Amino acid sequence: MADMTSKGADDEENCRDSGGGVANSEGENQSCTLCSETSGNGGGFRLYLAKDLRIGLLFAGLAVSCLLLFNSTNPLKFFPTSYYSSIGAGSPVGRKVRSLDVVLKSAAMEDSRTVILTTLNDAWAEPDSVFDLFLESFRVGNGTRRLLDHLIVVALDKKAYDRCLAVHHHCFALTTKGMDFSSEAEFMSTDYLEMMWRRIDFLRVVLKKGYDFVFTDTDIMWLRSPFPHFYSDADFQIACDYYRFSAADKRNSPNGGFTYVRSNNRTVEFYKFWYESRKSFPGQHDQDVLNKIKSHNFLHYIGLQMRFLDTAYIGGFCQLSRDLNRVCTMHANCCVGLDNKIHDLSALLDDWRKYMASGTGGWSVPKACRGSFGRPHKPHKHDLFWRR
Ligand SMILES: *[C@@H]1O[C@H](CO)[C@@H](O)[C@H](O)[C@H]1NC(C)=O
Ligand SMILES: *[C@@H]1O[C@H](CO)[C@@H](O)[C@H](O)[C@H]1NC(C)=O
Repeated sequence: MADMTSKGADDEENCRDSGGGVANSEGENQSCTLCSETSGNGGGFRLYLAKDLRIGLLFAGLAVSCLLLFNSTNPLKFFPTSYYSSIGAGSPVGRKVRSLDVVLKSAAMEDSRTVILTTLNDAWAEPDSVFDLFLESFRVGNGTRRLLDHLIVVALDKKAYDRCLAVHHHCFALTTKGMDFSSEAEFMSTDYLEMMWRRIDFLRVVLKKGYDFVFTDTDIMWLRSPFPHFYSDADFQIACDYYRFSAADKRNSPNGGFTYVRSNNRTVEFYKFWYESRKSFPGQHDQDVLNKIKSHNFLHYIGLQMRFLDTAYIGGFCQLSRDLNRVCTMHANCCVGLDNKIHDLSALLDDWRKYMASGTGGWSVPKACRGSFGRPHKPHKHDLFWRR
């Protein structure tokens, strides 16, 4: 009985915390909405709760039945509720971990619905690694500094979360119980794949919550705002390793490291379909599977409008954006090895600084990355999370 009372109080605490609370599962958030509706007689109810044990028990009962009701009615739920949970939930971390709803709301742009998302693990988070170059690019880019106010860093482990809090203001902690993505995971091992795929599922949750997003890998330098180059009539827009056809032509080779996705029923369905498709292509990662499903009838059926972004603006090392007057973002794609990436991305930012100072210039990159595919290469944990 005492346990139930305290559970009720905890649930109430979660409900009160902007409908998000400490844990961040989609399920738990929805159950919280239900809870607030159940206890919707106003703040007075909460006051009595502390004083009157019987009412406390009644509330606990309501909270429990609300959870049970939710658990049996959520058709979208294919994970245990603990699937999305915050680092430090239930453990003393000395500061409050913010819920996904709170972080999304505080990072959203003026339109209240657009955010920029990236994911970070401990290997990327180390000082002087790619994460620092990533943040630096926003500061030296033309008109990109303000976009940092809308960038959410999704940390995949405690170390990445701490590092984010030290250098940035919108940090979200996403963990999976029983799996530590900061540890060495062999490329294409089950853990590695699981982590790649979890991003896709996480992005579906963000869409479901009504937020449009730009997802960017951390090894993409932001030199200008890409927003003027997005198509206004498309649902799902994606960068390319090679852009050889028109924007709507599915023969282009997409790179999932950079996407702009509008929140609507089509994109929520599409992300669900994409995520589910991993079962049809075991052992493959999200980008390979996207390549296989990009022309699938299902996309036509739901009416998803897909666009491929021109590498002249949304570029990378595979197909260089040669015109510095046009380039917006540069991805260290077609590159294997953390040291190669850091080397070339640092050089790229130097090239950019010179260009900004003089109004003219070109790239001296890629040097280390060029040919990095062919060279013998010892896999390193730092390399694990990059698209090549
Ligand atoms: C999905 O469609 C339903 C019914 O047409 C609508 O009420 C809802 O707002 C839509 N959801 C999104 C995210 O657009
Ligand atoms: C930077 O942006 C400003 C404002 O849009 C523009 O006037 C200027 O030409 C840009 N500089 C470069 C080097 O692109």
